[in-house]
Amino acid sequence: MRIKYTMPILLFVALVIIEKENKIISRVSDKITLKHIPQDPQQSSGFSHILLKQNASFPSLSKDFVTMKQRLKNSSEHQEVMKRRRKHVLLLATTRTGSSFVGEFFNQQGENMFYLFEPLWHVEKMLTLETGGTNATASAKAYRDVLRQLFLCDFSLLESFIDPLPVNHITTALFRRESSSSLCEESVCSPFIKGVFERYHCRTRRCGPLNLTMASESCLNKEHRVIKSVRVRQLENLRPLAEDPRLDIKFIQLVRDPRAVLASRMVAFAAKYKNWKEWAKGGSVSLDFAEVMKLKGNCDNIRLSAEAGLKQPPWLRGRYMLVRYEDIAQFPMRKAIEMYRFSGIPFTPQVKSWILKNTQASKETSGVYSTQKKSSEQVEKWRFSLPFKIAQVVQRVCGPTLKLFGYKLVSSEEMLTDKSISLIEDKMFKSL
Ligand SMILES: *[C@@H]1O[C@H](CO)[C@@H](O)[C@H](O)[C@H]1NC(C)=O
Ligand SMILES: *[C@@H]1O[C@H](CO)[C@@H](O)[C@H](O)[C@H]1NC(C)=O
Ligand SMILES: *[C@@H]1O[C@H](CO)[C@@H](O)[C@H](O)[C@H]1NC(C)=O
Ligand SMILES: *[C@@H]1O[C@H](CO)[C@@H](O)[C@H](O)[C@H]1NC(C)=O
Repeated sequence: MRIKYTMPILLFVALVIIEKENKIISRVSDKITLKHIPQDPQQSSGFSHILLKQNASFPSLSKDFVTMKQRLKNSSEHQEVMKRRRKHVLLLATTRTGSSFVGEFFNQQGENMFYLFEPLWHVEKMLTLETGGTNATASAKAYRDVLRQLFLCDFSLLESFIDPLPVNHITTALFRRESSSSLCEESVCSPFIKGVFERYHCRTRRCGPLNLTMASESCLNKEHRVIKSVRVRQLENLRPLAEDPRLDIKFIQLVRDPRAVLASRMVAFAAKYKNWKEWAKGGSVSLDFAEVMKLKGNCDNIRLSAEAGLKQPPWLRGRYMLVRYEDIAQFPMRKAIEMYRFSGIPFTPQVKSWILKNTQASKETSGVYSTQKKSSEQVEKWRFSLPFKIAQVVQRVCGPTLKLFGYKLVSSEEMLTDKSISLIEDKMFKSL
């Protein structure tokens, strides 16, 4: 070993690793790194253990390493690294896929989490009022711009969509504020003044209206930011976010069997689906063509997003994860841990206990067959409420979507209601 040269080279390696954390490293330096240290598959977990590993092979220099590490820790570069370590996750879903529930997995993370529940609700509402929401390009752009700002803790663009318009950044109208723990914690809780507003704005605390300046400050102080949305139509629209070096964003797409989604909608919005039911019963009404096309459009959007994610174009590499509702229902703890591992956010005891309290996860690993069977039965309950004729319609317009996610088609009413046949294929979605 040419000890004389080792120090500068290692210093360089250390800097390269830091650069790598910043994701601004070039391919060329990548190769240089390879020459000097074994590639660590877990680079993203930090550079300190890599330095220590080097330490082991160059014992005479270990003291210098410790000093160097200290210096790095104190330097502004290190601050920058810490900033880069901040995680931004967008949980993408469509309605009735369990996204509020899965959002809670993140909302419960603890003090380091800034979680927002459906902020795009305001954007959609305003655009629908103003333009009928028909300009998909304009909507996609507004969603993307608002999301970008929110991930950077800037609420100003969102504010412009809140109705009534906030005054001095104060609002009583933020959609489902209480669904974000971080918007109801002490530091974001402005005094509640009796008589001024007739209700509290948080469940857990007597908070007054939301001061968005306080929300923004709180956001800036948190390490991780997660936003849940059912309003983004296509992942492709968010490419500029994926390419924004300030965000280092990850996407988790949550999907569910579209036949189950429709069955669930038919229960939740019974009036709206009255003529579907009539039609299925063989009544003289015909199916609303526009509704069927809407169903097809939704399925296509979900599939196109997933195809983009699974194909891993360079801009999405390592940034996309697909999760099926059915798998979460059966293995909530396992799936939550996987999502956390993917996003790089620490899985905390709070999350674990929330999942134990709110699911049957405690029995998940005990291998009790009956429990798993029970939850899978729960997941497939829709098969007994959805008329076969309607299942056929969904299969006709959503066929490729069903196939991609591993949902088996049914060919008869008997098959639809045959409990011994599961319609959920075991499927792994590799996208990392
Ligand atoms: C690195 O060196 C320091 C200081 O000599 C020592 O305390 C530490 O145990 C070493 N680390 C490893 C992994 O050998
Ligand atoms: C780094 O900062 C800590 C406290 O902030 C201090 O104790 C330590 O001496 C500093 N180390 C170096 C190498 O500057
Ligand atoms: C839709 O919005 C885009 C972007 O704002 C705009 O350029 C386009 O003219 C709009 N199209 C229609 C039909 O209004
Ligand atoms: C909102 O919060 C900011 C920051 O804490 C504060 O400066 C401002 O006075 C607050 N606004 C109102 C109306 O209380």
